[in-house]
Amino acid sequence: MKELYEELQRYAKEGIYPMHMPGHKRNTEVLSMDPAAWDITEVTGFDNLQDPKEILKDVEVRIKTLYGSAASFLCVNGSSGSLLAAMKACGKHGDMILMARNCHKSVYHGCMAFGFRPVYLYPEWREKDGISGEILPETVELGLKEHPEASFVLITSPTYDGVVSDIQAISEICHSHHVPLIVDEAHGAHFAFHEIFPETAVRQGADLIIHSVHKTLPALTQTSALHLGPHAEEFGITRERMKECINLLQTTSPSYVLMASVAECYRVIEECGETLFEAYAKRLRWFYEGCEDLKKVRVLPMESARDPGKVVISLKGTNLTGREATEILRKQYQIETEMDSGDLVIALTSVADTDEGFQRLLRGVHGLDAMVQMVPSGDTSIRLPRAEVVISPEEAWDMEENERVWVEKDALLGAISLEYVYLYPPGIPILAPGERVTEDVLKVFEKAEAERQVLKGARKKGGLFVARDSQRQ
Ligand SMILES: Cc1ncc(COP(=O)(O)O)c(C=O)c1O
Repeated sequence: MKELYEELQRYAKEGIYPMHMPGHKRNTEVLSMDPAAWDITEVTGFDNLQDPKEILKDVEVRIKTLYGSAASFLCVNGSSGSLLAAMKACGKHGDMILMARNCHKSVYHGCMAFGFRPVYLYPEWREKDGISGEILPETVELGLKEHPEASFVLITSPTYDGVVSDIQAISEICHSHHVPLIVDEAHGAHFAFHEIFPETAVRQGADLIIHSVHKTLPALTQTSALHLGPHAEEFGITRERMKECINLLQTTSPSYVLMASVAECYRVIEECGETLFEAYAKRLRWFYEGCEDLKKVRVLPMESARDPGKVVISLKGTNLTGREATEILRKQYQIETEMDSGDLVIALTSVADTDEGFQRLLRGVHGLDAMVQMVPSGDTSIRLPRAEVVISPEEAWDMEENERVWVEKDALLGAISLEYVYLYPPGIPILAPGERVTEDVLKVFEKAEAERQVLKGARKKGGLFVARDSQRQ
């Protein structure tokens, strides 16, 4: 049996360069800590995250000042925990909500846990890039006109691929319909610190904004921040109410090691963020210029509506899949990337990356370009099918054992799924509990299998648990 402790020690020495999260990139010049020596509880002088008044309050005030929020909260249950707290603050059991279909699974979990009934907003499709695009303001406008009873709107911006939506316009639409806007900006905590990145949702009028500090900034895994925008109070989301919701869902034993990593991350940004981010922007420009002579492999170019920190490598039309390219990057260039899906590979860069890291990535991309061949290929990308929500995710979750039945893949058409099916990574559901298995859903399953993409979520291979009474609903 392998021992995790020893495996981590071994891996740390192996020299694989992390083009993935966490954003500190294991660069000990940027973040260096002694976890065992620093792991304390709420001893005198170290405040209490449940009701911060001293040293932890200072951290939150620093975060608030850096982003220009109305209030900011330091959190240790990842963006998953902060998203749940944000949802809890904005609605109550049974409420209908408008959420982007490409939300992270934690948002679906929020629907299950709090009994929200989701109506989906679908992102545009970027044909050329084979990825989901932005949520258009007009999509939100239409959604709110058709569902004026919605308690809140929740969208993801940026997406895993770095695509941002026009948050300013979407906030204005939400406010004109008197509903708050929650933005899952988990992948955009760095946006506020250089103009090479899109504008942060915190400065575009959104009401609750969630950051994973660990994803794109130099902080330890599991850390996040929740920010309130200038209009949050108009929706009853005061600082106190928000804190209650966070406390409801967060551990009462927050790790001082995690919190110290956030404190240090923002202290460094406050002191020398400008210099550090200018150097990062320079490395990014250098990298994208270096990609201009690629012949077969395509690196999505820098553009204003996408985070350049997310390097998206497209192998569309070549004889390599994203998975194969990932393995080549690992074995031949000692680079571990963030994720691959279909014919894409995503490398996550951060302010903690070194020149050597960027050089290695550029060599890797050119290496792939030199080895691939162009082949005639069809459309390999997988689009999210339209969902037919029959019962709420909570009702699906609560179904008794005798109301559930396992059905083989070939007989699923028309059934109401009680399980998720995700394309993995990134974990966005193709089918969520409570939704009908339609022909479109089955076509996506078939395509995913043909493309050798990984479908996850189902408890048992070859079929799904569905509602016994599916046909009657
Ligand atoms: C868009 C998005 N939101 C939220 C999360 C959850 O973040 P965390 O892992 O910090 O809980 C993720 C995780 O990958 C994500 O991609």
